[in-house]
Amino acid sequence: MESIQYTLSQTRIPQAWYNVVPDLPKPMAPVLHPGTLKPIGPDDLAPLFPMSLILQEVSQERDIEIPGEVRQIYAQWRPSPLFRARRLEKALDTPARIYYKYEGVSPAGSHKPNTAVAQAYYNKKEGTKRLSTETGAGQWGSALAMACAFFGLECKVYMVRVSYDQKPYRRALMEAFGASVSPSPSNETESGRAILAKHPDSNGSLGIAISEAVEVAAKDPQTKYSLGSVLNHVLLHQTVIGQEAIEQMVLADDDPDVIVGCTGGGSNFAGLAMPYLGRKLKGKSKARLIAVEPSACPSLTKGRFTYDFGDTGHLTPLVKMHTLGSTFVPPGIHAGGLRYHGMAPLVSHTMDLGLIEASSVQQLDAFAAGVQFARAEGIIPAPEASHAIAGAISEAVRAKKEGKRTTILFGLSGHGHFDMQSYISYQAGKLQNYDYPAEEIAMALAGLPAVG
Ligand SMILES: Cc1ncc(COP(=O)(O)O)c(C=O)c1O
Repeated sequence: MESIQYTLSQTRIPQAWYNVVPDLPKPMAPVLHPGTLKPIGPDDLAPLFPMSLILQEVSQERDIEIPGEVRQIYAQWRPSPLFRARRLEKALDTPARIYYKYEGVSPAGSHKPNTAVAQAYYNKKEGTKRLSTETGAGQWGSALAMACAFFGLECKVYMVRVSYDQKPYRRALMEAFGASVSPSPSNETESGRAILAKHPDSNGSLGIAISEAVEVAAKDPQTKYSLGSVLNHVLLHQTVIGQEAIEQMVLADDDPDVIVGCTGGGSNFAGLAMPYLGRKLKGKSKARLIAVEPSACPSLTKGRFTYDFGDTGHLTPLVKMHTLGSTFVPPGIHAGGLRYHGMAPLVSHTMDLGLIEASSVQQLDAFAAGVQFARAEGIIPAPEASHAIAGAISEAVRAKKEGKRTTILFGLSGHGHFDMQSYISYQAGKLQNYDYPAEEIAMALAGLPAVG
């Protein structure tokens, strides 16, 4: 039999998260206070996050130990499997070898529990009673709801309106885990009411939902805010993915030439790619690292690398990132987790340094790739993950044209079992591509904060 599965035993769950920051050739730009435009300190973030996470956010340590209690919970689904997509290779008739690291085996169905469990753990330890958060497609909200249930924390989720309507079963899952879920923009917060006053039928966006969740945490000393992507500590927690993949690729006796991940805020891509970038910087890997984003929300490929707010209501500090402007509300594509105006500062910084590449994919091409993958491999991918599949397939097609035996590794960040309505719409020919929303993005970029 040919091998298609490369699995590690529970003892191989990484002992530490890998922080690439100290290995980078140039430091990242500091996070600024929006009033003073001076770098912020840990105390500025204390109303929102527990101190352990704030310290991880600015850490210069390369290896940050994973607490035993967190590793014990990881053991329920980690190490996650790495597969060789032999049937997809055959379907594509490519000489390329295609591997995927599958995060859909987590109980919530994606990579998001890797950080949700860690964030709930540190919050519980520091006395937080309730966590507030945003969610796009609902993957992050269900991961945090599950983690809160494990640690006895209350969980309040603002779910982007369009996804709330498109994905009722994700909401049901969050509620089954004990969370309280409201569609965003909501009438519960000043930020939500301000948007509804101007746009009563707003689809919502991650930027708006973040404002609502941050506002709730800032006003209640018992509540802290939890973010599912973008920040350094979130990307850090995801590095278990890449560290395991490195060991599994050794088991496969292969080494990736190309690594592909989808990017919304950048966390699953960074989780897979940053441990490889660390090796690359030490001369131990030659892999190209490719981030794939939706053409309807192309922060890395068309955004500006500059300081911007992380949210639409302008409650967060200013971070230097690739952005389409914090007031940009992306079209209602079904990959709800990719509808974010910005990109993780760490991913943006590595892009600016030329250490990673980016490309964009239209909605219909992403679904076509997802369906092709499902028919070959049997896994229904989340629409977000289908962007990575589309990226991997185009690399495999290129390998065929060039007659090269390229090794491709991509991140399959989650399953699409709660996204079947979007597959129904796709099969019925009801989904559409969206042109690059140039005018709206130009307007949003015109409103960027002035940082000298
Ligand atoms: C399955 C899945 N993949 C990818 C993403 C994008 O987020 P990130 O770029 O932080 O990995 C999401 C976000 O909700 C998701 O649910």
